Amino acid sequence: MGDEKSASFSFQIERQSGNDVLKVHTLAVGYQNEVVSENISFNLSRGDSTALVGPNGVGKSTLLKTIVEKLPSITGNIQYGSNVSIGYYDQEQAELSSNKKVLNELWDEYPLISEKDIRTVLGNFLFSGDDVLKIVSTLSGGEKARLALAKLMLQNSNFLILDEPTNHLDLDSKEVLENALIDYPGTILFVSHDRYFINRIATKVLELDRGGSTEYLGDYDYYVEKKLEQEELKALAEQSAKASGSAVDNSKQDKTSYQQDKEAKKLERQRKRRMEEVESLIDKLETEVAEYEELLCDPEFFQDHEKAGEINSKIEAAKEKLDELMEEWTELA
Ligand SMILES: Nc1ncnc2c1ncn2[C@@H]1O[C@H](COP(=O)(O)OP(=O)(O)OP(=O)(O)O)[C@@H](O)[C@H]1O
Ligand SMILES: [Mg+2]
Repeated sequence: MGDEKSASFSFQIERQSGNDVLKVHTLAVGYQNEVVSENISFNLSRGDSTALVGPNGVGKSTLLKTIVEKLPSITGNIQYGSNVSIGYYDQEQAELSSNKKVLNELWDEYPLISEKDIRTVLGNFLFSGDDVLKIVSTLSGGEKARLALAKLMLQNSNFLILDEPTNHLDLDSKEVLENALIDYPGTILFVSHDRYFINRIATKVLELDRGGSTEYLGDYDYYVEKKLEQEELKALAEQSAKASGSAVDNSKQDKTSYQQDKEAKKLERQRKRRMEEVESLIDKLETEVAEYEELLCDPEFFQDHEKAGEINSKIEAAKEKLDELMEEWTELA
């Protein structure tokens, strides 16, 4: 596959923000006074690249929407630093529903840019020739994602807030996005379930769970390590609480704690084994998807709609499975 098949772009900023970019203090977010998540506190400084992680439905998207002021906060406060300009990438791309052509969707927002330059930007995002004449509301998930990224690139904001930006991207575009974000001189807050992506981008991790938010001042590997450590400590504390709780028959006690220990070790081994299994399944599926995508570029296939359709649905199915596995991996980790 030649370079022309992958999206290439970089995000630039118009001007730098101050050193403090965002301060969130005891924030509660939700809908119509129904709290989804509370006790959220964290700070972002210029240049931070923070991954917001947490289980499905915990309120990550709700938090981002509150930060970009698409939703009112319920309690607590959000303080933006000086000269902060936000560029927001929506998980659903709900705003990309117009009946405009792709070309006009972008050009109407930036009328001072020439048509040629607009087409060049769109070309970077793999909209070539007639593609730019497609109607926005009819675009596929992947096309909407690429159009949204093209819009974001032209904004030159210094603070990117990205809600699962890799979801609909093919592997090549994902890699180019990764490189663009690594080179980005501004501040990033992003949600992703994709551990490879998080590993490459994040310098900090912000975890959201039912109790609130926790900041981890290290990359994703550091976060995973800390979580493991916390769980081990918790298990130890539970064991010793049980042991000291009933000082009845010592020999019996020793036996049960020995058994508990054995059981815990067994569970840990099972967890590690499953993690390795999931990792190798992920590798296999990613190779599979890459191979299918390469096939699609083969004239024999892309000229044959039926075959291309078949391959496309195989790719979709593989990606769905991949998502599931990545989620399982995150849970295991
Ligand atoms: N418009 C809405 N009105 C009321 N409740 C909503 C609305 N949108 C989402 N919710 C609820 O808020 C909760 C949090 O949803 P949210 O989309 O923020 O989770 P998330 O952490 O982003 O999940 P995911 O990882 O699946 O994207 C969910 O229980 C969801 O059903
Ligand atoms: Mg979400």
